[in-house]
Amino acid sequence: MSLNFDPVVNNISMGVIVVDLTCIIRYANPFVCDCHQAGSLAGKSLFDTFPELPRRWMEKRIESVVMLQNTSFTSWQQRPQLFNFPSSRPITGATGFMYQSCSFFRVKDATGQPLICITIEDSTATAVAHGRLRQAAVKLEKERRYQKDLNKKLETAQHQLLQSAKLASIGQLAAGIAHEINNPLAFIKPNLIALQDAAGRLETLFNGYSQLIQQSGDSRLINAMNALNEKMDVEVIREDVRDTVDEVLEGTVRIESIVGSLKDFSKLNQNEHQQADLNAGIRSTLSIMRAELEKAFVKVQSDLGELPLLNCYPVQLNQVFMNMITNSIHAVTPGKGILAIRSGFDASKNEIQITVADNGCGIAPEHQGRIFDPFFTTREVGSGAGLGLSVAYGNVAGHNGEIHLKSAPNEGTVFTISLPLAGVS
Ligand SMILES: Nc1ncnc2c1ncn2[C@@H]1O[C@H](COP(=O)(O)OP(=O)(O)O)[C@@H](O)[C@H]1O
Ligand SMILES: [Mg+2]
Repeated sequence: MSLNFDPVVNNISMGVIVVDLTCIIRYANPFVCDCHQAGSLAGKSLFDTFPELPRRWMEKRIESVVMLQNTSFTSWQQRPQLFNFPSSRPITGATGFMYQSCSFFRVKDATGQPLICITIEDSTATAVAHGRLRQAAVKLEKERRYQKDLNKKLETAQHQLLQSAKLASIGQLAAGIAHEINNPLAFIKPNLIALQDAAGRLETLFNGYSQLIQQSGDSRLINAMNALNEKMDVEVIREDVRDTVDEVLEGTVRIESIVGSLKDFSKLNQNEHQQADLNAGIRSTLSIMRAELEKAFVKVQSDLGELPLLNCYPVQLNQVFMNMITNSIHAVTPGKGILAIRSGFDASKNEIQITVADNGCGIAPEHQGRIFDPFFTTREVGSGAGLGLSVAYGNVAGHNGEIHLKSAPNEGTVFTISLPLAGVS
């Protein structure tokens, strides 16, 4: 049974063009004619009719289809627009170009001569949907990144909060202890000074008595005194009393300074910002860390310039100094370590600058971008939480300040903290 396919190609929603081997159009269905807005195309040159066609590419395709007798296909993703056909967009109705998927295959005419059939499928709806999907995917990816970013910020904020809560309780404890120590100190120190004075006077009195006995010329009395002095080891006692009282008093002064540092470090009103002298903060932090610095034989060089008062949260900034000093202690070679802390005011930038530098192991270039990340640590598992610098960063950022890093492996590390005088608002 032979079928007449004319109604099929006349009504199908797809372009059909048949050309001969010289690329003369033998047939174009109504879909093509409508798109081209022309009458019959039969007998016309394919390339004259559709000058937009990539000629060399088309000829190669046709050649390969004839030679290899296979079907060749090109999708809208590879060549969105082989023919300049219009298409109205779904939903908006606007007119744009038609995305096309075309296939090329070999047919024969009535005399058996080979011809090429080109079919053009309108893939606009698929392409537009695909485009929307891609846009949605891009938007989704952007949102995912934003979420990730937000999560990281949240994590950092949470750690800062934890850290400051911890600090607040340590601060209160330290302030409480400082207060308790201060109370007995308030009478120990004046009593010691009085004791020192009394010991001095007793010595003067003793010297006076000795002199009087010597001057009396009474040999019996003089001998008795000398025997008693020897028996009681008087010379040693006199020296001991002097030295002991001096040492105890020195110790008391030291306790007083530690207590002062503790109080400075842990000001109870730490949740309120105040006008503070950062040099005092640096000094009290160094004093608190003295034992650790001495244990690692770190030489401290501090060069603190004149600073204006800064409106800030002093405890937070002390925490920054402490975290950096701790890292320096870990970084230096015991016995050879130098920690240099400098402070100064840059009037042109209206900011306070503090540098914490060491001659330690330095930071590898590939780590330098990560050291402020929470949990980044190069220390052994369990020995470093990797939070020191992220907390420092957060605290400085909270003061509208910045931290800059300069470090070279095996040479050392310099952190520069800049704090605008405007401070916290
Ligand atoms: N002064 C420094 N010298 C060398 N490396 C440092 C110094 N300061 C920080 N680092 C590096 O940065 C990392 C992160 O520091 P930090 O946030 O304080 O966490 P942690 O000290 O717990 O490792 C350290 O593990 C170390 O590798
Ligand atoms: Mg640390």
